[in-house]
Amino acid sequence: SFSNLPNAPVDEIFALNHAYTIDADPRKVNLGMGVYRTAEGQPWPLSTVQKVEEEQSRENNCARHEYLPIEGDSVFTAAARDLMFGFNLNNNTETPAEKAAKQRIASVQTVAGTGANHIGAAFLAHHYKPKHVWMSTPTWANHHTIWDLQGIERKTYPYFNAVTCAFDFGAALAVLEAEAVEGDVILLHACAHNPTGVDPSKEQWKAIAELCQRKHIFPFFDSAYQGFASGSVDEDAWAVRYFFNMEPRMEMCVAQSFSKNFGLYGHRAGAFHLVTNGLNPAEPGLVQKNLCHIIRGEYSMGPRLGSTIVKRILGDEDLRTQWHGDLTTMSSRLRSMRESLYNELLRLKTPGTWEHIVNQIGMFSYTGLTLKQVLALKDEFHIYMLKSGRVSISGLSENNVAYVAQSIDNVVRR
Ligand code: LMR
Repeated sequence: SFSNLPNAPVDEIFALNHAYTIDADPRKVNLGMGVYRTAEGQPWPLSTVQKVEEEQSRENNCARHEYLPIEGDSVFTAAARDLMFGFNLNNNTETPAEKAAKQRIASVQTVAGTGANHIGAAFLAHHYKPKHVWMSTPTWANHHTIWDLQGIERKTYPYFNAVTCAFDFGAALAVLEAEAVEGDVILLHACAHNPTGVDPSKEQWKAIAELCQRKHIFPFFDSAYQGFASGSVDEDAWAVRYFFNMEPRMEMCVAQSFSKNFGLYGHRAGAFHLVTNGLNPAEPGLVQKNLCHIIRGEYSMGPRLGSTIVKRILGDEDLRTQWHGDLTTMSSRLRSMRESLYNELLRLKTPGTWEHIVNQIGMFSYTGLTLKQVLALKDEFHIYMLKSGRVSISGLSENNVAYVAQSIDNVVRR
């Protein structure tokens, strides 16, 4: 019987989304789940994605529902890798140095970002056997679940300084320096840290990379917002590429999601890359074989439709240019909503400082609102956000930002 099962925790993000959906109040505002919404509060199939979908429906390719290989669509994973690590996406212009750099990397297609994090964690748990995995306080709650399910002990390093509302670089480095041991894994957010929207500066990234290299800590990047955060795919991949190009070469992993930057949330498009140190040319092949072994045993292969769309866009210069425009559309709307919320709070003279709302980047703002305030916003004003005070900026629009600011003002003044 299963009556003695532990009471498994409910996922806060999905539960909150459901609560919002069934709320009948017309004033309701969803600042919970990290999904892009237009100025009208609607989901947005990217213009490039729509174009490819239309093209595909005309093609009527009879092989469109066939199985993919276990490692996924190799054209897709190569394009995903090139986007992440900064290789030229036009294959015919590969330099010998690029070719050698690519040969360090084993890539597989995954069930989006969660699947990439999971496959990476499962692979490392089996074949690297870290003593601990280090996570920032706070981090995306699913990181905890993914690594707990692999039985790897979690340790945390300070990340968000509640007083300065910035990255607590000094505290993070001090803890890692004193406590992280050789063979540990460190989970890093490539850009637009979830939930805080606060990233290390380039100088700080360099120091983190140096620490990983010196102490033999294994970097595991989660990249869910490339191009979505700053609007530039290069800027948002800066940290990953810096670690990748360091000498002497480091082993590292990258979990790559296309949910946000291609708006393909439910299609589960993603990739996992394991970077070897390049000393043994046979190693990436062996790594990929072992990744495939896990994938086959778990779900055989990643899904096909989303990856086909991503591959088509990344493989075509014109579509890629148009996609960069889509990224700018999304990232600029988010920036302008940050400013609107900030300006409204300023106008209302809401007690406290609110600059961090405009200084943070990406999908989220870590507002600093207390649990009591968060609950009052939900129960009285029908405004939904995570208990930590994380708001998804995307849920804001010109239609609701004044209401949201007014409601925040109300609960803050109590
Ligand atoms: C979020 O953090 O809200 C998003 O990344 C969605 C998710 O899968 O949790």
